[in-house]
Amino acid sequence: MENNNSRRNFLKKSAALALGTIAASTIVNNAFSASAPSEKEILPADGGKFTLPALPYGYEALEPHIDKLTMEIHYTKHHQAYVTNLNKALETVDGNVLGSPQTFENIFDKVSKLPAAVRNNAGGHYNHSLFWTMMKPNGGGLPAGKLAEVINASFGSFDEFKKQFSDASMKRFGSGWAWLVVNKGKLSIGSTANQDNPLMNLDSVDIKGTPVLALDVWEHAYYLKNQNRRADYIASWWNVVNWETASSLFAAAK
Ligand SMILES: [Fe+2]
Repeated sequence: MENNNSRRNFLKKSAALALGTIAASTIVNNAFSASAPSEKEILPADGGKFTLPALPYGYEALEPHIDKLTMEIHYTKHHQAYVTNLNKALETVDGNVLGSPQTFENIFDKVSKLPAAVRNNAGGHYNHSLFWTMMKPNGGGLPAGKLAEVINASFGSFDEFKKQFSDASMKRFGSGWAWLVVNKGKLSIGSTANQDNPLMNLDSVDIKGTPVLALDVWEHAYYLKNQNRRADYIASWWNVVNWETASSLFAAAK
């Protein structure tokens, strides 16, 4: 076990150095550590399958802002499908293309050479794993500490940051995600299509860096409660943001 852990840590560090940033696996593990300290490791052991991580709270916990039925279907149906289909898709990949291990950072680095099913489902699994940790009951309010300082310095005020992030969420045509990322200490806001994310080595992804906040703007995230009113969903989401997770991801990325 100790050897496996050492090897895994070595591989994570190697991948991080290769990308010049924190390894994707480390980022999502940091997010789970901040949000749900009882969760140790959401990633498969070497050679294992990807699995659905435990939700850090109950389906009803984010009511009335995010409704129970949406949470249950989003987690048990949509997220589970990304995990199942990622494992299936990886079985079709030539080992010489992906190499070993089958980690998020390895998949994201080589994503342009991999089948669309790997790109879509690896992104889907990763993005949702992060997304759950970025919400909590009685969340919202204002960020604190260094993250608050840098948000104010970068955008002028928290309200201006919130406006720009909400605008990016609204302007993403069709399905996708809005992001706040940090890259070499600098914060930026952007969005990605479908299940792409800022860690993917793709020319079409025009925002790069370590995720600090992620917002799912697929209709499946809000249609049951808000129907087509994405703006109402975004306004509700600010009431459940877990700023402790965001601060933790920001601090680790520096
Ligand atoms: Fe989603």
